[in-house]
Amino acid sequence: MSSDIDAVHWRSEEVDETIVLTLDVAGQRANALSAEVLAEFDRILAQIESRPLNGVIIRSAKSNSFIVGADVNEFQKISDMAQAVSLAGAGQAVFNRLARLPYPSVALIHGHCLGGGLELALACTYRIAREDDATRLGLPEVRLGIHPGFAGTVRLPPLIGDLAALDLILSGRTVSAHQARALGLVDETVPERHLLRAAHAFVARHPRQRRAAWWKRVPAWSPLRKPVTRLLQRQLRKKVNPDHYPAPYRALELWRRGASQEEEARSLSELMVGRTSRNLVSIFLLGEKLKRQGRRQPHGVAHVHVVGAGIMGGDIAIWAASRGFRVSLQDQRPEALAGTIKKAYGFYRKKLKKPVAIQDAMDRLMPDLDGNGLGRADLVIEAIVEKAATKCELLRDIERRVRPETLLATNTSSIPLEVLGEALRDPSRLVGLHFFNPVAQMQLVEIVRGRQTSDSSVERARAFTVAIDRMPLDVRSSPGFLVNRVLMPYLIEAMMLSQEGVAIEEIDDAATRFGMPMGPVLLADTVGLDICLSVAEMLSGPLGIPVPERLRETVGRGDLGKKSGKGFYAYDKSGKPRRRPVRGHSDLPVTERLILRMLNEAVACVREGVVDNLDAVDAGMVFGTGFAPYLGGPMRYAEALGEVGISSSLRRLAQEYGPRFEPDEAWGRSDLFTRDAGSQA
Ligand code: NAI
Repeated sequence: MSSDIDAVHWRSEEVDETIVLTLDVAGQRANALSAEVLAEFDRILAQIESRPLNGVIIRSAKSNSFIVGADVNEFQKISDMAQAVSLAGAGQAVFNRLARLPYPSVALIHGHCLGGGLELALACTYRIAREDDATRLGLPEVRLGIHPGFAGTVRLPPLIGDLAALDLILSGRTVSAHQARALGLVDETVPERHLLRAAHAFVARHPRQRRAAWWKRVPAWSPLRKPVTRLLQRQLRKKVNPDHYPAPYRALELWRRGASQEEEARSLSELMVGRTSRNLVSIFLLGEKLKRQGRRQPHGVAHVHVVGAGIMGGDIAIWAASRGFRVSLQDQRPEALAGTIKKAYGFYRKKLKKPVAIQDAMDRLMPDLDGNGLGRADLVIEAIVEKAATKCELLRDIERRVRPETLLATNTSSIPLEVLGEALRDPSRLVGLHFFNPVAQMQLVEIVRGRQTSDSSVERARAFTVAIDRMPLDVRSSPGFLVNRVLMPYLIEAMMLSQEGVAIEEIDDAATRFGMPMGPVLLADTVGLDICLSVAEMLSGPLGIPVPERLRETVGRGDLGKKSGKGFYAYDKSGKPRRRPVRGHSDLPVTERLILRMLNEAVACVREGVVDNLDAVDAGMVFGTGFAPYLGGPMRYAEALGEVGISSSLRRLAQEYGPRFEPDEAWGRSDLFTRDAGSQA
């Protein structure tokens, strides 16, 4: 029976004097807790709290989520502390009302139950989760530069113990339903068909509420709090720089003080209005926007045919099959196919774990020496050697063998699409799908549009990219596209610094202190110096970037980086670089030279229209290279530094170190530096 609540996002049913509240946020794929959703929830609780009910069950109508968290779009509208405090306070008040209901409440969890969603569940008397791989629970707030703020830091430790709670809050990692049961985060896990019955049974039985065993609360004893805090701080420091990412340190501090809900709200608010959180939120929303763009059109792909079972083609095939696509993989060398199949098995075992899932993925990945899959393919991805003539010959052959509606894609990193398109009768069907190495780790895929590429080819390529769980970024076909072009001057500058006598360890340390995930010298070694050299040579003509002698010499000696055991660094047997201790520091402006070269190239890409706007540069560099996320990407960082300051620093560096530092003409052009208001969300 439906009861008479007046709500847009919630539905209510009453069964055996138990209310079943279903959240179905209007117009959204997933449930997020906006101010409006919370206000409705509050009104509903006010209506039912004084009624003589047996209990309330809260669940979601969305197929893949319970609640994914607070509505991140609203974070961007917060301009001061007072607003942030009132937002957190309002959420806490609603959840406190839920926790104080005079009868039991049950959260029925399936799919994502994250952040504010888990905090809602924590305010319930019981939690029941659907037992499957899609159910994930966690408090990932630190990834947005904040910590839980709807009383999560207060309610979690008594439920699962202090160390387990701190582990979830400080790392932001999520756990499966099975792990959540083992932790005590949920009371029970059941298959889909038993969920509702299990919830009613909990209401009827009303067992004692779960608490952590006494010994799991030992770290909270007052003489132990300080030493435990110090220990956890030391562990955190190994992974996270507190100047760049303060949130986990603040969460730990709340725990040390045994902070109240009010203190939690205040600390959250300080973080929310700070630089790191603002930048991480903007990057998160950019990623969401890219994925949304990819969902506009169907991709029409069930069968993917990949040609070239090398580093890239092999990994693309393995990845696409793991995401549910049927994949045929072609190579002229049978041993390359055998190598990929072996690698696939290892990857699926690690990633998919369950024997049935591993077998299914292996069945979807078919070695195909003769290219028999071409006739059935909806999408063909070419990933053979980087030679224009060879690729053209292959594409010509492919076009003869595929159906007219098959989309053709190339993974080329340097050959203009216009050149490859000449091999085709219909070049409008050719698009670049530029993956990054290693495919399983790098989220970004550049969607390269040549002059002749049709809109529908680009849209299908984007949609396919989202379907395999990667992030599509539109770029124009031009040398190096976006990511390699912006990265290369930075890598080359590192080599120039090393030629001038700066220790490579010092160069890499400067970059990681700045916030890059890996220093440029180590990155070049990891990518492969032969690849770096060929990209540098390809860019040196059009961009006038000189190729450092040291790079040519090192490659000439056969030292190709990590893969050959020696590059700029020497590597031990386990593949770790042998670092020499850094003694003293060079007088050269190492960080400034590295970063300003990158910013200067990034702004040139916007001026030339390689990408549409500043946001695209930021998303590309953060998701494609790991550019210091706390700064929000190179363009957001440039805006924070100020264009005038950047231009004058570049001019000073140009005088001292040469014309490669001449400021790009784009600095100071206000038309390029206005962010599209709609691009924020
Ligand atoms: P690779 O040399 O590891 O693999 C190329 C494979 O293609 C080899 O197994 C070879 O036997 C096969 N092959 C060559 N000609 C063929 C033909 N006509 N028919 C069938 N198979 C043929 O090369 P890698 O590194 O995988 O690069 C492939 C493409 O991906 C290139 O266009 C490269 O620019 C691009 N790329 C490479 C990245 C990297 O980090 N290695 C990153 C992004 C793009």
